[in-house]
Amino acid sequence: MKTLVLTAHPDLGKSRINRAWFDALTQADSVTTRDLTAIGGSEMRFDISAEQTLLQAHDRIVFQFPFYWYSAPPVMKAWMDQVLSYGFAYGPGGTRLKGREFLILVSTGGPADSYHAGGYNNFSMDELLKPFQQTATLTGMTYLRPFVAHGMAVATVEQIDATVSDMLAHLTDAELDPKIKQARLLKALEDDPVKAAAVS
Ligand SMILES: Cc1cc2nc3c(=O)[nH]c(=O)nc-3n(C[C@H](O)[C@H](O)[C@H](O)COP(=O)(O)O)c2cc1C
Repeated sequence: MKTLVLTAHPDLGKSRINRAWFDALTQADSVTTRDLTAIGGSEMRFDISAEQTLLQAHDRIVFQFPFYWYSAPPVMKAWMDQVLSYGFAYGPGGTRLKGREFLILVSTGGPADSYHAGGYNNFSMDELLKPFQQTATLTGMTYLRPFVAHGMAVATVEQIDATVSDMLAHLTDAELDPKIKQARLLKALEDDPVKAAAVS
């Protein structure tokens, strides 16, 4: 499994959490990391053909970013607008991303309890990340359960370190693909007729 991590932070040098994740991911096996701000420059212009070649050379595409105004920083959108082009990612013949996996790694300033109905951010992360989920769906990728680290604006060094290991564990979870987990649960039911009878 070859993983491509596209990191969208306006200034990784000033980042605490995304820098820590970027550094850990850069050391990880079979992972290619790309700092989109450094690559796109102040104009946020990308070499579309090079970016598309890289995408096709990887099985899992990861968007990594801090949550900014309930979305990703603008360099992520600039990259998407340029690289996920008609005839490549969607539209006639636009099937080059089909069958790949798509995963989001995101940090928020707000605490976990704010990202619920009735919390001060009102909506869950699953709801707020819907445009990314639908982008994955339209381009034929399997949307994986995102990794979210909440309350990161004021995180201690220990808390940041903990998110690094949790994030790496999430990335290497063998059952991140929902079909794999579902198949195992179904098999366990088949192997246990008593439980199978109870849930049928
Ligand atoms: C312009 C801007 C917008 C932000 N918007 C949000 C937001 O919508 N929700 C939230 O929980 N945190 C928000 N934050 C806080 C960041 O998500 C948080 O500081 C970041 O995840 C920390 O990551 P870093 O150490 O890599 O910079 C925002 C921060 C900035 C600078």
